[in-house]
Amino acid sequence: MAEIKPVRKAIFPVAGLGTRFLPATKAIPKEMLTLVDRPLIQYAVEEAREAGITEFIFVTSRGKSALEDHFDRAYELEQTLETRGKTAVLEDLRSWLPAAGSMMYTRQPEALGLGHAVWCARHLVNDEPFAVLLPDETVLNEVGCLKQLTDVYERTGGNVIGVFDVPREQTSKYGIVATGDNDGKLAVVEGLVEKPEPDVAPSTLSITGRYILMPEIFRALDRHERGAGNEIQLTDAMMHLIGQMPFHALRFRGERHDCGSIEGFLKANIAFGLARADVGTTVKDYVKSLDL
Ligand code: G1P
Repeated sequence: MAEIKPVRKAIFPVAGLGTRFLPATKAIPKEMLTLVDRPLIQYAVEEAREAGITEFIFVTSRGKSALEDHFDRAYELEQTLETRGKTAVLEDLRSWLPAAGSMMYTRQPEALGLGHAVWCARHLVNDEPFAVLLPDETVLNEVGCLKQLTDVYERTGGNVIGVFDVPREQTSKYGIVATGDNDGKLAVVEGLVEKPEPDVAPSTLSITGRYILMPEIFRALDRHERGAGNEIQLTDAMMHLIGQMPFHALRFRGERHDCGSIEGFLKANIAFGLARADVGTTVKDYVKSLDL
């Protein structure tokens, strides 16, 4: 088997407009919307770090500078906290800051699809395996979703994607996987189709926003082929890798939340609030007290 290189880099596609959350997202990026008290992007970055990622590549667009500021020092704020003796808050603020020089930013000048966004990061990734995390999606679990994927990758090598079952009537919202050998959790990927109608979907296993991909995918993305919705789809490019190298789908553990929709985002706030040691009991008591 070919050498299994460690996954050190992760791409975060964050160029989307977030129109579903207007007016909240008029002046702030949708990735800065908060679950409890931290922005969506921070969950994704922390999940990547837990999985061993040391280089964080953001594919941004106009109006996204708050994301860069969020991962930078904030001297005035830090000084004020220090003067006021707010040591715990200050320590938390500093604890999750990525090391100097580990954040990279590139832009996707036009909204041409997820495959195009990933392709925009090709010169920052070069010839290495890499992860992709879509911050709109969050997975609540003790071991993060990406760490579960890297654990598999260290055994199998090749591409590994996170999948979960959806009701058949929803297949047209997702990339759908056709699987071969399957142990109930890990399956060999034999086919992929982006947003198929329920009657033609090869399964109900949908791709969630967590991927480990081999750099050969950039050769497929170089073709700029248009797919579903006339967009350059990551799913279509992944199809070109099937049969060339190992390709697995993992039914990850944990509760997946779609924070790209208002309903999903509200549910995620309740779920993440309930899971928190500091506010969980208050949220639980409140929800229980509702006479619905
Ligand atoms: C993207 C991917 C799709 C995947 C989905 C998960 O679609 O193209 O394969 O299932 O994310 O959220 P989007 O939601 O950007 O249309």
